[in-house]
Amino acid sequence: MRAEDVSKVGVVGAGIMGSGIVEVCARAGMEVTFVEATDDLVARGRGAIERSTARAVEKGKLDSEGRDALLGRVRGATSLDEVAGSDLVIEAVVEDLGIKQDVFRRLDGLTRPEVVLASNTSSIPIVELGGVTKRPERVVGMHFFNPPPIMPLLELVRSLATSDETVAFARAVGERLGKTTVLAKDRAGFIVNYLLVPYLNFAAGMYEEGFATAEDIDAAIHLGLNHPMGPLTLLDFIGIDTAVHVADVLYEEFKDPLFSPPPVLKRMLAAGWLGRKTGRGFYTYER
Ligand code: 3HC
Repeated sequence: MRAEDVSKVGVVGAGIMGSGIVEVCARAGMEVTFVEATDDLVARGRGAIERSTARAVEKGKLDSEGRDALLGRVRGATSLDEVAGSDLVIEAVVEDLGIKQDVFRRLDGLTRPEVVLASNTSSIPIVELGGVTKRPERVVGMHFFNPPPIMPLLELVRSLATSDETVAFARAVGERLGKTTVLAKDRAGFIVNYLLVPYLNFAAGMYEEGFATAEDIDAAIHLGLNHPMGPLTLLDFIGIDTAVHVADVLYEEFKDPLFSPPPVLKRMLAAGWLGRKTGRGFYTYER
């Protein structure tokens, strides 16, 4: 299939990333069916898309007719069977190998054999997902960045088994979605997280050692390097749970202490201080 012929997309998982990916695909004119485990989670996913698109209207990025049309192209479901007719499926469930493999096994049985199955994973080798299907050459990483409707990058990840045709297809789909694509090998962290994780770990370590206050560490990077957020604000934004998980996976792969999460992050995880999503991380947030 050619990227321009993709009209129906399935998205599995509608958390922060999944709901953002649904929005990006619907924005590009595709009919999107997303799947969540329960009706409540479907409603939560839809609510996130409604809020984000309302914000896009406020910011002048979308008009209200465009928003209505976008929302009209989005359908939520609780059964994976609902994505059976999709031309492309993007998986964005929790970063757990067993759960993702189960999704890929089932998608392989449900969808037409020529359909590309993509994963938004930030840490799991694509080859391990392709390996449970009969179409490993059509399994590819499509790693979006948070928040997907705003961040212009899409990291593509080719496994040892991914075909050139699939990579070209994913690249063309990314362009249709308005993203700039980069291609990475199937190594933990790909390009962005390989560079980001040591930086965030060092920032958390600096804070722990009392080099400077959280506010000063963030102000130094925000104002001194013109990053949109300092590292501790970014950790709260990503979520301490996600940050520790990604760091653990990188450490497991490369055994380089640069990737090992510092104790402060592990203690925050244990305390449930996960950042914005729980209202407390390096900073506190109104919820
Ligand atoms: N749809 C479309 N556009 C929108 C929008 C929406 N729902 N909401 C806002 N926008 C637009 C705004 O109009 C604005 O566009 P402009 O620059 O043309 O005016 C732009 O997006 C920024 O919006 P805001 O001014 O409202 O927001 P902020 O300036 O507060 O920026 C932010 C918010 C984009 C989150 C910014 O702080 C940022 O870029 N932070 C860093 C985020 C980051 O690093 N993400 C990557 C995390 S790592 C990751 O995801 C990988 C994982 O594997 C760990």
